[in-house]
Amino acid sequence: MEIDRKQSVHSEAAVLVGVDLAGSPTLAEAPLEELGGLVESAGAEIVGRLVQRRETPDIATYIGKGKLEELKSLVGAADADVVVFDNDLSPAQVRNLEQAVGVKVLDRTELILDIFSTRAQTHEARLAVELAQLEYSLPRLKRMWTHLSRLKMGVGMRGPGEKQLETDRRLVEKRINDLKRDLDKVLHRKEREVAARSDRMTVSLVGYTNAGKSTLLNKLTDASVYAQDQLFATLDTRTRQWRLPGWGPVLLSDTVGFIRDLPHRLIASFKATLEEARQADLLLHVADASSPSAGDQIRAVYAVLEEIGIEQKDTLLVLNKADAADEATLTVLEQRYPGAVRTSARSGDGLDRLARAVSDALSREFVEVDVETSVGDGRLLAYLAKHGEVLSRTFTDDRVTVHCRVPRKYLGRVAGADTVVRPRAADAASPDAPPSGAAAMGEVA
Ligand code: GTP
Repeated sequence: MEIDRKQSVHSEAAVLVGVDLAGSPTLAEAPLEELGGLVESAGAEIVGRLVQRRETPDIATYIGKGKLEELKSLVGAADADVVVFDNDLSPAQVRNLEQAVGVKVLDRTELILDIFSTRAQTHEARLAVELAQLEYSLPRLKRMWTHLSRLKMGVGMRGPGEKQLETDRRLVEKRINDLKRDLDKVLHRKEREVAARSDRMTVSLVGYTNAGKSTLLNKLTDASVYAQDQLFATLDTRTRQWRLPGWGPVLLSDTVGFIRDLPHRLIASFKATLEEARQADLLLHVADASSPSAGDQIRAVYAVLEEIGIEQKDTLLVLNKADAADEATLTVLEQRYPGAVRTSARSGDGLDRLARAVSDALSREFVEVDVETSVGDGRLLAYLAKHGEVLSRTFTDDRVTVHCRVPRKYLGRVAGADTVVRPRAADAASPDAPPSGAAAMGEVA
């Protein structure tokens, strides 16, 4: 039996397999629904599904013997070309499963990497995906060579294959190092780019894949970003200017769609893309409220945010696709996540409410202070007028005290040798108290 490992899942007939392990919540809400979405998004047709409940996975084949027989008949009857598991498999498990069922077996990570590789549009995203794919395939190289040596020389003739395997492994390792170096350069450039934009308030869209982030970005900014009903349409960050009513221009950026159990290598590789979200003043977490697994997806996004170390950021939950969601689900989600805003990026409903909520949240980033400096410090005075809201000025000899509201993140730049910054009493008592008139930022942002 020879299995073509290079072929990916496009236009193939796929059988999905899920194992509901004791105590694992992942399959609870909608078994195989998410995996089905991913497989269809990769371009394959689903011809069968199989779910097994087990205490622990089988070491050799993940599913038990009886289920394996069932899978074999299902693959034969449906004439499937690929079996996709909803979890990760060890190289040995894949080998054993392929031998048993006679078709290619993919695990969840391979499937996601496959989809990402076809969607990557920029140089940066392509580097990130290639790195993740090579790191994943390195320990699996042997499996490919086992197939090949069987084809060429029959089972057991391993000599030349082993040598070739060593050469290949070295080549792959070298490529991995080159990619890491290139990505590091991209990350540094990105950090500089994002830092250069830091005189604007920035809002970053994050959320589960297909939640409607690109559509929302388009609707709010009139940009024509590629949006289509395919998971992971967005692999690179895009940033646009959003004229936030009652506030002024802020930067709004779209990020890669998240997914449950996003492969760790992929998160690491997409660091540069996620830099935008890390530096943002506010995250808009967009959720698809019409999905039967909305609750699971929201939790999964929070888990990824935690993993990339930005869960502490001020976050506003957006319950999108409200036009297609049922009222009961929306109510449950609103009770579970107070402060969440319903929207329909498609019809435009709720976008004014969203804008108000964003303005309020950004206002919380402001602090009210007295800045005392020399009257001759024109640069500082202009800076305060540009980035904040000046409420009053008091002159004493050659000193001026400016009572103003400024974004918290600029405070560090205001302080200097000849400048004293004093928090106002109200702010000192409650550092998170929202200022009353941050709308004036509109003139200066
Ligand atoms: P990724 O790039 O995978 O992260 O996706 P995304 O979150 O950017 O989703 P995208 O904007 O590409 O939208 C996915 C699909 O949902 C598209 O078919 C949109 O037309 C649809 N969609 C977006 N917003 C809404 C909405 O408010 N209501 C309905 N019914 N569909 C929507």
